Amino acid sequence: MPNSRITLDPDRTTGKIDNRIFSGFLEHLGRAIYDGVYDPGNPLSDDQGFRRDVLDAMRPLRMPFVRYPGGNFVSNYDWKDGVGPKDSRPVRADFAWQTSEPNTFGTDEFMDWCKTVGTDPMMAVNLGTGTAKSASELVEYCNHPSGTYWSDLRRTNGHSDPHDVKLWCLGNEMDGPWQAGHVPASEYALRAEQAGKLMKGVDPSIETIIAGSSGNHMPEYMEWDRVALEYTWDHVDYISAHRYSRNENDDTPWFLAEGVEIDRIIEDYRSLLGYVRAVKKSSKQVYLSFDEWNVWYRARGGSHSKGGWAQAPHLIEEVYNLEDALVVAQYLNSFIRNADVVKIACLAQIVNVIAPVLTNSDGLLFQSIYHPIVRYAELATGDSLTPVIDGPEYDAGERGSVPSLDVSASYESSTGEVAVFAVNRDPGNSTTATVSVNGRSVTNADPGWLMTGDDPKAFNDWAAADRVVPSTCTVSVEDGVAHMELPPMSIVVATMGTST
Ligand code: AHR
Repeated sequence: MPNSRITLDPDRTTGKIDNRIFSGFLEHLGRAIYDGVYDPGNPLSDDQGFRRDVLDAMRPLRMPFVRYPGGNFVSNYDWKDGVGPKDSRPVRADFAWQTSEPNTFGTDEFMDWCKTVGTDPMMAVNLGTGTAKSASELVEYCNHPSGTYWSDLRRTNGHSDPHDVKLWCLGNEMDGPWQAGHVPASEYALRAEQAGKLMKGVDPSIETIIAGSSGNHMPEYMEWDRVALEYTWDHVDYISAHRYSRNENDDTPWFLAEGVEIDRIIEDYRSLLGYVRAVKKSSKQVYLSFDEWNVWYRARGGSHSKGGWAQAPHLIEEVYNLEDALVVAQYLNSFIRNADVVKIACLAQIVNVIAPVLTNSDGLLFQSIYHPIVRYAELATGDSLTPVIDGPEYDAGERGSVPSLDVSASYESSTGEVAVFAVNRDPGNSTTATVSVNGRSVTNADPGWLMTGDDPKAFNDWAAADRVVPSTCTVSVEDGVAHMELPPMSIVVATMGTST
């Protein structure tokens, strides 16, 4: 069995891990809201209509922020349709997903849901068909204490305290021809600048995120981002990146090397942010908000993506397997390793729609990807250490020879605790790894957290909900070094104490 060495050094760090990388995303799409988080009348729901089983499933994910209300949906959404007495809210035809939107869940219901879960809202404004004025009115509705038209309307609607929304996305995927109100980058930059100016005028404490390219497959990838960033640099705080990983050719070795591409995208943004900062001779820093990421390729197109004007149809309900869970873990590894650039990341999405949990009217199912996210969110705190890996490579097909191990690590300097998050991407070979920490000895280790299996396509369903679930593995300590075994296609999370 090949050996791997993972060497950590408390001085080799990319800085504090921002827990906002464990955020989520909830869109008016399919059964994400209706039948998902909001299901009034269902015995599983509380008196606000929120599904209690969904609330319970969300809490271990520890999402500090949830982005809302879209996604593509936001680009033709009028937030004013979704506030006030429910019986006077209009039913609208949603352009993005061709569904009927009843608007019985809107801004105030979302804020109440966030409070009940214990997360904070991250709002997106409509810069497709919406105006800068309407966007700033939403900030006034949400954040202004009282005494103005929109803040008083919020109070009339039952919310005397401001919602205090800190993070605001200036539109969504405006580079995409599918997007309502899609425009060239230069036009989007003007819209974003004007909306952001009015929004920060209403509440100078908010932070804004401009919409970067919707993916590195887009013809204007990086050029769109450069134009938008150069124009808005002095007034924005983050630029967004999106990626949905795909294994359409059913090539597991290739797909399991997806982390290489995720790293590459973050490197692209690191370079661009540095370039624009230099061109601007600026002392401020803009960071990356990776605010849509996941695996998504099976439930795409046709009836998966267009709802035939039904309310809450089954749309893009991707079923996740073991190999997807390994890719999800690599996203998190990359966000952790790049803690100096990636400050926010939102799993897309949270319920039913490309989500870690699925609901039916009687209950809830945990998909494979749920489990590693829970474990990472619990343990990835403190400093991000940059692991030096000495170990085998495997043949990832068109991606070439790729290191078998994809690793991130966190370090709590006050306690000396280290957590190692390791994915063995090699579908055929296990590896034995030693973990050493420069200048410190590993003193003890907890049993490791392990997710693995023989079948990369194994998935959970209502008949067998525990085909892909975590188990434990041995992490031993000898002479100040930890030892563990990583089976083929595995995620191992090891926590250990260290001292000088
Ligand atoms: O998350 C599903 C969709 O993917 C979002 O609405 C859009 O922003 C992206 O293309």
